[in-house]
Amino acid sequence: MPAFCRLRLYPRNLSGSCQRREPAITKSHRRSTEPRIVVVGGGVIGLSIGWRLAQAGRVVDLFERDRTGHGASWAAAGMLAAGLEAEPGEQALYALNRASQRLWPDFAAELEDWAAMPVFLRREGTLMLALTRDDVARLKFNFEFQRSLGIDLEWLSGTQARQREPHLSPHLAAAIFSPGDHQVENRALVQALGRAFTKAGGTLHEGMKVDAIEIANGRLVGVRLAQHVHAADIVVLAAGAWSSEIGGILPELRPPVRPVKGQMVALRMEPESPLIRHVVWAAKAYIAPRTDGRLVIGATVEERGFNAAMTAGGVLALLEGAWRAIPGIEDLPIDEMWSGFRPGSRDDAPILGPTKLEGLLYATGHYRNGILLTPITARAISHYILSGEIEDAIRPFALDRFKVRTEA
Ligand code: FAD
Ligand code: GLY
Repeated sequence: MPAFCRLRLYPRNLSGSCQRREPAITKSHRRSTEPRIVVVGGGVIGLSIGWRLAQAGRVVDLFERDRTGHGASWAAAGMLAAGLEAEPGEQALYALNRASQRLWPDFAAELEDWAAMPVFLRREGTLMLALTRDDVARLKFNFEFQRSLGIDLEWLSGTQARQREPHLSPHLAAAIFSPGDHQVENRALVQALGRAFTKAGGTLHEGMKVDAIEIANGRLVGVRLAQHVHAADIVVLAAGAWSSEIGGILPELRPPVRPVKGQMVALRMEPESPLIRHVVWAAKAYIAPRTDGRLVIGATVEERGFNAAMTAGGVLALLEGAWRAIPGIEDLPIDEMWSGFRPGSRDDAPILGPTKLEGLLYATGHYRNGILLTPITARAISHYILSGEIEDAIRPFALDRFKVRTEA
């Protein structure tokens, strides 16, 4: 039975009938027959879900403990790399990533219209490099595996790759070109999503931390903030790497999400004469050229909890990795350095959809692909709230895949 009544769009009560339930805590809202929706977290995931629901005319309050879009969504590189990030054993995740990648052009165009600002979706594609003989063996393995999934890839000699990007290292042995792996300016993306969300009628509460999910008599009734409880029928937990810290959730329902730190460095190029135009992946760093002249280099992958410190070793590894691929970077000024926390789940895949607590939904754990997965997450989660139907694409990513199975 779906958790929500298809036609009336408010939660089923415990008897399973579709009468409107009186909230334990009342708060005025625009249309009293509609469910009150709260989104926790103002990154790309929370904002995009909120936008889709507000577009559909729903009453949505989004709580962000800080400023929107300053978590992982701000720290990211913005690559939409379903193809080159595909790894053995992650075929279900690849299918989700690829489905979202296909949505990106229309999603970006619609968002730019709503927000009246660009998000700089760039479609030059991505080059993955092999600089050493070991790299060539690794690249060949990737190439064959990814092609077996039907990914459109081209094998290039070093010379062919340098014809596309003359500033690549003269030692380049080979490369793969992935024409479908693009990039977006993720900081513009979160700004655009914030604008689109409020323009569609959503209410943004910045600087308001949700401490806990509020439950009364076994039912979700809202979210607890420092000074009050905000009543809600539906809560979407989209708090990124902090998702497991929200109180009030039974231990077995807590999302197994942890922070995975990534350090990044940006150099500055002349925007009119950029060193490269494609996104480039080398063995120890990836490099994304931005339209404004920034050259974004990432990223470390570190299990350090919420320690945000930049380290000499981290920056050294990134700069060395990028320099081996594009020696000309050594003349570029450093523009910025930062770190962020990927929301990593136990199997590195997102946690999407309803939970056993009626009205509580998860949209978290997007790990290395949250920017890529924004359009499909927003579509699938809003679709579930509006219709009670779970899209096939997200079925493998329910929370209960982590359930410990005990044999009888
Ligand atoms: P966030 O953007 O972290 O947003 C969560 C928000 O919730 C935050 O703003 C936080 O303040 C808020 N919050 C937390 N707790 C509470 C609370 N109790 N109450 C209210 N608000 C709360 N993905 C890609 O697709 N491509 C890439 O190239 C890429 N590169 C990356 C590089 C780095 C260095 C990092 C760190 C990540 C990268 N990612 C990339 C991953 C991507 O950034 C994330 O998967 C995605 O941003 C997650 O979005 P989110 O909205 O879930 O989390
Ligand atoms: N997807 C790139 C990163 O997480 O660093």
